[in-house]
Amino acid sequence: MQRLAVLTSGGDAPGMNAAIRAVVRVGIARGFEVLGVQHGYAGLIGGEFRALGPRDVGGIIQLGGTVLGTTRCEQFKTDAGCTQALEQLQAQRISGLIVIGGNGSQTGAWELRRRGVPVIGVASTIDNDLYGSDVTIGCMTAIDVALEAIDRLKVTASSLDRAFLVEVMGRKSGHLALVAGIAGGCEVIVIPEIETDPETIARQLRAAYERGKRHALAIVAEGAKYDADALTRFFGEHGERLGFDLRVTRLGHVQRGGAPGAFDRMLGTQLGAAAVAAAAEGRFGVIVGLRNGQVAETPLQDVAGRMKPADTGLFELAQMLAM
Ligand code: F6P
Repeated sequence: MQRLAVLTSGGDAPGMNAAIRAVVRVGIARGFEVLGVQHGYAGLIGGEFRALGPRDVGGIIQLGGTVLGTTRCEQFKTDAGCTQALEQLQAQRISGLIVIGGNGSQTGAWELRRRGVPVIGVASTIDNDLYGSDVTIGCMTAIDVALEAIDRLKVTASSLDRAFLVEVMGRKSGHLALVAGIAGGCEVIVIPEIETDPETIARQLRAAYERGKRHALAIVAEGAKYDADALTRFFGEHGERLGFDLRVTRLGHVQRGGAPGAFDRMLGTQLGAAAVAAAAEGRFGVIVGLRNGQVAETPLQDVAGRMKPADTGLFELAQMLAM
């Protein structure tokens, strides 16, 4: 019987469990034996394989995180680490490895492919910065978590006529901030892709009050030049001159921990099943993602080391909407 192995790698993302479940159940339905690798690439190097049956993935579709565990593995980036991983795959007679993860993980998958491993990637990161997929597993749920926080902050901001700033994750991408900022009705959006400075941000917040608003909310991507720390310092030093205080909330990992919403459960399921189909049909060295609403495969070579830019066209829309 042919053997598939599945691992999750890098930052966990809501919907990863749906993908694991689909790989296991669709894999078994298509005649594979499926092994889970614990703790991402570190577990691959250490040989942490275990057979997974349909019951082992019961009751996980609604859970955030990943039941397989995950790591950011520096050892795998070394030649010795990668070689050890390869040897483990050979020892386990794996005929297809499915890697569920984001940019760093898929760059690792490409390295394995270059060494002859039959590997397939599944596009999964809350940052939605992975080339080859319009949307990645986890990003919609992360946006929903940010929206819940924004909606709550607006209530207290309106009660006290205060300015608030909320920082969201996204690594070097402004995608999460842009979408959450528009859907949350923020007055100011600060992202790495568009230059701004603290004086401009302060002016925009003040202008919101001058237009008669009772709240002024800025959303800032963690990768922006002026992130929550920089802006806290600036407002601390210049608050008196500017005439208002700023309260800062950093969402951080709270954003990653949400239970997956319907979209991410479906996306995880569809992409997990598509990865098994690619393995069954012998199409390796690709990542499965969603393009124009359809499941699509992109060569890992084109994905590795590349970042999908945020849609800055949305920024202009956001500015008009903040009037
Ligand atoms: O890539 C997902 C992500 O959550 C980024 O948004 C963030 O910059 C990073 O991971 C945080 O990494 P860690 O969980 O290792 O602190």
